[in-house]
This record gives sequence, C-alpha cells and structure tokens, in this order.
Amino acid sequence: MPTKLVLGLQHGDEGKGRVVDDLTETWADVVVRFQGGGNAGHTVYDREGNKFVTHILPVGVVQSRNSNKDVLNVISRGCVLNVSDLYEELLSFDSEKELTNNQLKISGFCPLIEPTHILIDRMKYQGKLGTTARGIGPAYSDFYARDSILFKDFVMNPEASLNKIYKKFLDFQTDFAGQGGTNKQVNDNFSFYNDWASKYRSAVDTLSQYLMEDETEIFQLYQSGKNILLEGAQGSGLSIGSNNYPDVTSSFPSVGGALNSTGLNHNQIDEVIGVIKSYKTKVGTGIFPSIIKDESAQILAEIGKEYGATTGRPRQCGWLDLDEVNLAIQNNGVDHLCIIKTDVMTHIEKPFVFHENKLTSIPKIDNVSLEDEGFKTLVDMVSNITNINNISYTTGPKRGEIVWNV
Ligand code: IMP
Repeated sequence: MPTKLVLGLQHGDEGKGRVVDDLTETWADVVVRFQGGGNAGHTVYDREGNKFVTHILPVGVVQSRNSNKDVLNVISRGCVLNVSDLYEELLSFDSEKELTNNQLKISGFCPLIEPTHILIDRMKYQGKLGTTARGIGPAYSDFYARDSILFKDFVMNPEASLNKIYKKFLDFQTDFAGQGGTNKQVNDNFSFYNDWASKYRSAVDTLSQYLMEDETEIFQLYQSGKNILLEGAQGSGLSIGSNNYPDVTSSFPSVGGALNSTGLNHNQIDEVIGVIKSYKTKVGTGIFPSIIKDESAQILAEIGKEYGATTGRPRQCGWLDLDEVNLAIQNNGVDHLCIIKTDVMTHIEKPFVFHENKLTSIPKIDNVSLEDEGFKTLVDMVSNITNINNISYTTGPKRGEIVWNV
C-alpha cells in the first residue's frame, strides 16, 4: 500500500504532469490532486504525441479516459474549486463519455471559487502580483476566514448556495461602485456573474455524482492496498509558506500540504519525487537570481514552448537553480529527483547551472544520454549537490520517454 508524492521543486511548470501520467500508466490506482485550483496547467502527451491539458482535474483522468486502466482521480479538500470551470473542463475533456464516479471523486470540503473571488483577483492582484486571475487567493482568504461555500453545499443545496454567492457578489458591487467603479464596469461584472451562474446551474447534475462525503476515504483506499499517487501543482518556490511571500500562490505545494489535504499521515508517504526542469522558468512577480539575460533565454523559451498552459503568458527563463532545489529538498524530505526537458538543453551552446549564488559553466549537452559528457556532468552535479542518488530523467516530451532510476 505505498504512496508516492510528486512535487515541483521550482516555480511551477516543471513538468509534473507527465511524471504523474507516466506513473499512472505503470503504477497508480488512485491519483489525488491536493492543492491549488484552476491556476495550474498540467500538459501531457500520449505515445502518439496527442496533447492533453488539465487544470483542476488530476492528470490521472487522461489514463481513465484513454486506456482500460481503472484509475480513481480525487480532487481533495486542499483544492479550491470553480465548479463552472470544472464543468467546462470536463466537457472539453470528456466529450464522448462521462467519467464515472469510480473514476472521479471530489471532496465535499473543497471551498468554492466564486465570481466575486475572480473579480477581486482580476482587479486587485493580477496587476500587483501577476496572478493567474483565477480567484485563487481570494477563495483561500474566505476559506481561512471560515466563510466559504463548500462543494458539499453546492451538491446538497445548490440554489441556497448560489443565493449566498449572489449576495456576496452584490455586496462587492456596492463597494466597487462606491469606490468609483463606472456603470460599464458594474454592468460587465453583472454579465460575468450571470454567465458564471448559468454554468453553475448546468454543472449541478453532472458534478453531484462525484461527491466524496467521507473524509477518511483516501485513508481507506490506502489501507485497502491501493497505490496512491499524490499530485502537486505549482512548486515549492510558489508555496505560501516560502520566503518568496508575497510573490507566491495561496496554497502549500509541499508534503505538509499533501498531508493536510488527504488525511494521510507522514508515515504513509513512502516516496517523495521532486520534479525539476533542467533549467528554470517563472511567471509573475518576485526575485529570479538565475535569470538568463542573453539569447539562451529565447532559445529555451522557444524550443521548450515556455508559455503558460493556463494563461498563455510567456515564462521568463533562467538556469537551473540548485540553491532553491536544495531548500525544497530539505523542506520536503525528497527521495528521488526527476529531471525534465533535458532535450531542450541540447540547443544551448554554453549551458550553466546556478549554485551557491553563482553560475558554473557545464560542457555542451549533445545527447540526452549518460555517455554524453555534458549530460553526465549535469546529472552528476545535480546528484552531488543535492545528495540524492535516485535520479530519473526524460528524453523527450511523449509518454514513455522517461528513464527511471539511473
Ligand atoms: P495565483 O496562484 O493565480 O494566485 O498566482 C500567484 C503566483 O503564482 C503568480 O506568480 C502566478 O504566476 C504563479 N502561479 C500560479 N499557478 C502557477 C502554475 O501552475 N505555474 C507557474 N506559476 C503559477
């Protein structure tokens, strides 16, 4: 009954989705997404190169949908949920066949993201912090204030819950108009609300079947011997518990976050797999010590397709920062490192790694193979500096292009 946890050790966009997808194909019975919301964009390519992007759905749904493997996907209580967006994500993902309630379950304790949260995020935090404007921070604020509507309220009392959501929206509109919001802006907000509310109502029947009422359910799955894969979103550098505050997201992409959100205890996490890209990318505000200032940044961005899967924003590129990776390893007790997008680094003439606050040059990487001097130097440096011997790496973007435990 082992449990593996996949965590990003940088600023998100490390490629966790494909690691989860690979492990779902070969190992997992249950995949649990445990923090964040529709701010994530996990991109997965199958063996034929078809692309799938999930936002709040656990990546295991790609296997549920396209293979005969029985996989249960769980959105657990640490996630904030925009039911209207989730409904749309399911429709676009799932056009031919609905996921059954043996394939998807949603914790009744997930706080809802409301239209007011999204409007506040757009008006107040998108410009200031470079958020994804998905309402994540304001939804978690209401949760910690104990003022959230939960997914179980949506299922049990959809209209009464919508009335509460509407009341909060009206209060927001009154404040907004009082603070100088124009008539047009107020009307636009109403249109946004109405559109959202109509999707909310359409979502009730479909989503209600996925309610997970019993919060010990993940623990019971563990006890019954299922292989459980916990899927982190974002990355350590974006944790609200990190020193990068306030340039962070509002959840805990960490072992602690996973435990709080699943009801598992620390003895029940058997392996923590830290995912790192062979370089680093970042969107939003905040410091970026290893940022690249020459044309290598452009090459990594173009070859690595470094545009946000959720927002389409270009990501800034930098060298692999092993100082931040080491901190994340220390904070989370990482057992195993998986290095992603190593093939992208073969396009760089003069690659570097950032460590102890300075850049170290490494030989050019010609091939993603341990026979290659540049690639071996990179893998050895990662292993020596992090003290982790259990290393895996990807050789290309498609499912299966991953070498485990070198
Ligand atoms: P929020 O999560 O939308 O509140 O955004 C807060 C910060 O986290 C911003 O800098 C975002 O760009 C960043 N962020 C949130 N989700 C992701 C992600 O999945 N990948 C990369 N950055 C993210």
